Amino acid sequence: MSFIKKHEKLEKNSVLLLIGVIITVLIGGIVEIIPLFRMETVIEPVKGMRPYTPLELAGYDIYVREGCYVCHSQQIRSLRDEVTRYGHYSLAAESMYDHPFQWGSKRTGPDLARVGAKYSDEWHVAHMTKPQDVVPESIMPSYGFLMRKGAKLHDMADHLKALKAIGVPYTDDMIAQAYNDAMTQARVDGDNIGGLQERYGDTVNARDFDGNPAMVSEMDALIAYLQVLGTMVKFADYQPEPVPADAVPVAESEAK
Ligand code: HEC
Repeated sequence: MSFIKKHEKLEKNSVLLLIGVIITVLIGGIVEIIPLFRMETVIEPVKGMRPYTPLELAGYDIYVREGCYVCHSQQIRSLRDEVTRYGHYSLAAESMYDHPFQWGSKRTGPDLARVGAKYSDEWHVAHMTKPQDVVPESIMPSYGFLMRKGAKLHDMADHLKALKAIGVPYTDDMIAQAYNDAMTQARVDGDNIGGLQERYGDTVNARDFDGNPAMVSEMDALIAYLQVLGTMVKFADYQPEPVPADAVPVAESEAK
């Protein structure tokens, strides 16, 4: 009875009620938001993920600058048609080093989350230069000018430094070598890539991506980026977290 009386006081006094509401909403908000500040607790680590090389990062920046996300998503949803068309659905860990992430929501063109190694470099050059040459009905615009623009690589060390400040695990060595690594990755002579592989792993693609050895162009950077998308995690040996014993089986939940 006394509790109801106290509650009545709260209900009849708008200021008191407002303070009560604010405190309640704040508690709810804090409980929801605080765990997200600690990303490592929400993203399950997956083997194979590494930060982008400086050249791939330069390509990522061009992807963002040119607004490729306006037509392309990078997020394969766990829907049957998407998994059949593109491969394994995207894992949170696969975009943990993207700042900002490129999930997108506009799907005018195909999803690009796993476009890496799907086509040859020559295909990409031809497609970027004039998409209609390879896909006649394409409505994608031409990006041929990227061939003629030198990639801006001198400030890549600063880019790496900035990403490191927000949690991407670039080492001091990677930052110091950023410019050299970018140049090395886009050059034909494949003998001298030891340092690059030491820093970023054996599977790094190092070659002249755009077929023009005279210049490291923006096309080189963009194709280096496209060719690595979705290739870091090897799904042949990827083991998802075990499903809890009380989870509803997928077939059953779909049937409803
Ligand atoms: C106006 C929308 C639009 C924009 C902007 C756009 N694309 Fe596309 N893209 C498409 C369409 C439509 C297709 C499918 C037809 C084709 O292959 O050309 C496509 C296809 C592609 C493919 C082949 C995908 C596959 O799996 O076959 C790649 C790679 C690609 N785009 C990369 C890019 C990049 C990189 C950019 C930015 C520089 C970009 N696109 C900007 C519409 C767009």
